[in-house]
This record gives sequence, structure tokens and C-alpha cells, in this order.
Amino acid sequence: MKTITVKHPTGSYPIHLGEDALSQTGRLLAELGYSGRCAVLTNEIVGRHYAAPLCDSLSQAGFTPTRIDLPDGEQYKTLDTVASAYPHLVEAKLDRRSPIIALGGGVLGDTAGYVAASFLRGVPLVQIPTTLLAMVDSSVGGKTGVDLPQGKNLVGAFKQPEMVIVDPNVLQTLPDAEIKAGLAEVVKHGIIDSPELFEALETSNQPTATTTSIPSPQSPAPILHSSFSILHSPTWLLHEAIMVKVRVVQEDPFEQGRRAVLNLGHTFGHAFEQVSSYQIRHGEGVAMGTACAARLAARLGYCDDQTTERIIGLLDRLHMPSQPPDYPAADIMAAMSTDKKRQGNSLRFILPRAIGDVDIFKDIPPADVKAVLA
Ligand SMILES: NC(=O)c1ccc[n+]([C@@H]2O[C@H](COP(=O)([O-])OP(=O)(O)OC[C@H]3O[C@@H](n4cnc5c(N)ncnc54)[C@H](O)[C@@H]3O)[C@@H](O)[C@H]2O)c1
Ligand SMILES: [Zn+2]
Repeated sequence: MKTITVKHPTGSYPIHLGEDALSQTGRLLAELGYSGRCAVLTNEIVGRHYAAPLCDSLSQAGFTPTRIDLPDGEQYKTLDTVASAYPHLVEAKLDRRSPIIALGGGVLGDTAGYVAASFLRGVPLVQIPTTLLAMVDSSVGGKTGVDLPQGKNLVGAFKQPEMVIVDPNVLQTLPDAEIKAGLAEVVKHGIIDSPELFEALETSNQPTATTTSIPSPQSPAPILHSSFSILHSPTWLLHEAIMVKVRVVQEDPFEQGRRAVLNLGHTFGHAFEQVSSYQIRHGEGVAMGTACAARLAARLGYCDDQTTERIIGLLDRLHMPSQPPDYPAADIMAAMSTDKKRQGNSLRFILPRAIGDVDIFKDIPPADVKAVLA
């Protein structure tokens, strides 16, 4: 098992990454000095597969776990769901030293994280991400929270976990569409700060339409998904992708500046999701948006044509969309100008200078953005 240490303003926490890490949770939590009662927050789908092995591991290490299921889906990432969890925590007699363990994807991690940040003014939090997106993105960095009817992620708190457990084996039950959604963020991380990760994706064997498994010494239990079969060693890939996020959040723990680079492809992507009334899924929007950011960067002379071609080539090879969707450019521009990440009146974009090097660019002329959308 590999351990990555993440430093933050008030301390640090380990990310334990490896096949079967889930079954080590109890021991690792006990080693941090915790004991007694704890709560496992999960949902029906994820809990069906992984709550029992997790609770067994906790019980064997002397903990008394209580499983609490939250409803599944972005539409339930709400204050109502958060409020529904508190009475169960009281009933289970959790105290300030009792950990909350978030077992699930990004929706569950964000919601349970906010429960942990607020219950008893804050209890210890363990993140066990079970989607590719949650592993490489949402479980690291301490951002937790829920949506309001007025918009996504409008209420929340910075809540650093005590530890993060990443077990690639849990990806075996993740639907292919969710793997692809996460892979879009992995490509993004490669462009942001890891040419090695980007190259590994470029030179991996071709994904196939059918489900295959590729045996490899580093990966005794190969991931069976069609889009993920390209990965000889999911543990290596996860490590590289997580390290990008770790470097960014260590540099900017409270999202004051540099952390904006994680929005590569997202200014375009969110607009595409919005104009399609969310028929375009987040991962697809990010893939299209990353390709558009690459074209915009080349057009403005920030990167060379070859960089743009490599980015679009990789997306094509991973069977991800790289063309902007067929909606009027004016509608997409309008959607972009209501994006909450927008600052002042100027359009702000994260654009690549090279593979592994991106920057924040302000005051991009709308005419150039329009040209890229055409
Ligand atoms: N906090 C952050 O920094 C941050 C960063 C990026 C995204 N996010 C948030 O993450 C959320 C998206 O997360 P997501 O993409 O993980 O989606 P998700 O949490 O909705 O998970 C997708 C689906 O897969 C199911 N699932 C999860 N793990 C599974 C497994 N191993 N096997 C089978 N099914 C499984 C889930 O129950 C769900 O139905 C958004 O709300 C977004 O705002 C947060
Ligand atoms: Zn994203």
C-alpha cells in the first residue's frame, strides 16, 4: 500500500492507496488513536457492495460502527439530507471523538463531509471515495458542502479529513459511464501538472468496446471496464492523478488563487451542461471543454498547435467527445457569463501552455471564444 501525506494549514493527513485498502480501514483508524463508536455514511448502492466489509474491518479493530444510508443522487445533495442524518448520529451516541466515515462517490463525500463539519461543531472525518472522480478529485482538499435550489455547492465548509482510503478494487462495480466521467478529470489532471500521466494515457493500449481484462503484475485484480481496460496499473494512475490534486491544494488550501487551475475545461463544460439542460453529463462537458480550452489557447498563441492536437487526440482515443455541442454559440456564451466562478465582467479561462503546464487567463476576447465554439 502507498501512503501520500497531504499538508494543510492546521496539520496533515494520509491518503492510503492500494488494492484491498478498504479492509485495512479499522486498523488504520485505530492507529490514528481513535476507538469506540463511529458512523458509516453511505448510500444503498455503494453500501450493498462495501458497507459489510468496511464495518467488519472496523469491528475487528474494536470499533462499534453504525451504518446510516443517505439518498443517492445529486438532487439529494441538500441541507434536508444533512438534517436527516443528525438524529441518527445522536441516537448512535456519537461524541466529538467519534469518526464519521464517508463511503461513496463525490455526492456522498460532499454531503457526509458537511455533516462531519457541522455535527457537534465538527467530528473527525474519513473519506473512502468509491468513484474515480471522488478518488482523484473530490475526496482530497477538504471542500465539503451541498447544493441550494439556486445553484450547486452554495453551502459548505472546509473540513480536512483525518485520512483518505483509496481502494481501486471498488471501481469494479462502478458503471462504465461513471468511469468515463472520472477519466475526463484524470486527463485534466495530466494537462494541469503531469506530463507522465498524460503520456501513460496516450501510450496505453486502445480501449475496446467490449469488456476485457488485462492481467499485469502490478495489478492482480484488473479493472474490467471497457474504458478502464486501458489502465495496466490503476494504482499507478490513481497515484499520479491524486498527486496533481495534492500539489494544487497544498499550494492553495482555501481556494484563493492557484486552485482555480482545477477548473480547466470547466468554464466551457459547465456552459455545455447548462445549455443542454444537463443532457450533457459533467464528464462529457469537461472533455468537450478541455478540447475547447486547448483550441482557444492555440488560437491566442499561448500553446503550440501540437499541444492542442495531442489533447484532442487523447480525448478521441479514449472515446470522449472533443467537439463543442451543437447549440448556438450565443446561448453558450450567455451560459458562461452566469457561471459563478466568473470574476467581475471579464471572461476567465484556465488554458494550457503545454502538457503539464496551465495558467489562469483573464480578459479573453469574447470573439475568440465564439470562434472556438463555431
Ligand atoms: N469537494 C470537491 O472538491 C469536489 C470536486 C469535484 C466534484 N465534487 C462533487 O462531486 C459530485 C460528483 O461525484 P461523482 O462523480 O462521484 O458522482 P456520484 O457521487 O453521484 O456517484 C455516481 C453514481 O455511482 C454510484 N457509485 C459510487 N461508487 C460506486 C461503486 N464503487 N460501484 C457502483 N456504484 C457506485 C453512486 O451511488 C452514484 O449513483 C458532484 O456533486 C460535485 O459537485 C466535489
Ligand atoms: Zn469536474
